[in-house]
Amino acid sequence: MPDRKPLIAGNWKMHLSVAEAVELVRRIAAETEDVQGVEVLVAPPFTTLYAVREALGDSRIRLGAQNMHWEMSGAYTGEISGKMLQEAGCTYVILGHSERRAIFNETSEMVDLKARAAVSLGLIPIICVGETLEEREAGRTFDVVQAQLEGSLNNFKEEKFIPPTTVMAYEPVWAIGTGKTATPSQAQEVHQFIRGWLERTFGTGVSAGLRILYGGSVKPENIAELMAEPDIDGALVGGASLNADSFVRIICYEKL
Ligand code: PGA
Repeated sequence: MPDRKPLIAGNWKMHLSVAEAVELVRRIAAETEDVQGVEVLVAPPFTTLYAVREALGDSRIRLGAQNMHWEMSGAYTGEISGKMLQEAGCTYVILGHSERRAIFNETSEMVDLKARAAVSLGLIPIICVGETLEEREAGRTFDVVQAQLEGSLNNFKEEKFIPPTTVMAYEPVWAIGTGKTATPSQAQEVHQFIRGWLERTFGTGVSAGLRILYGGSVKPENIAELMAEPDIDGALVGGASLNADSFVRIICYEKL
């Protein structure tokens, strides 16, 4: 079996004050101190990154951002660069989340530019793909996911190289924030498809080592069965990551 260390990532979206964020991360850090074999990441809003970094101290919990711009600096009002994220202590950045694609018209071409910029700085991208309910019902899940992979990883594809630390995330749009989780076998089917595409594009050795997270209404009640699937290597957790108890239970899924 390839060594893919499970990654449990909390996407805090546009939630929490600085004080709430610090309190939450302190609890997560304290209650998962002894957890071995699972990598933990939190992705707070930009304005709380620095305070969360300070609160983490020498904890092994990683810090990530939810988005970035592809340029290093410049006249891009309202944007944040990867360099700025690094200065705030981030090692990861979520790219192409469905909310960014749907609400802010982010295209796969933009995700591709961001992924290239992130990697050039040494930031690890978490690249999200996933179909809507309409697309699933029309039987277009694999076509949509493949088109997002082709577009969002275009630079890597052209260079025939993807950094082995890159993380993929499959997040069916119909399962995000809706309470409707994909069944483990529905998720596994798409994860396997993604790994197959990565294998054809970058080779077997590379694809076998890349982590693919599942996201969409992950909670303590369903994490263990999702993680039991062979191509699910972790979770991108929204709502349930805002509560210390539920996020810690998800991190400790092996004990559930
Ligand atoms: P959810 O969000 O867990 O609240 O469904 C997941 C995500 O959007 O990353």
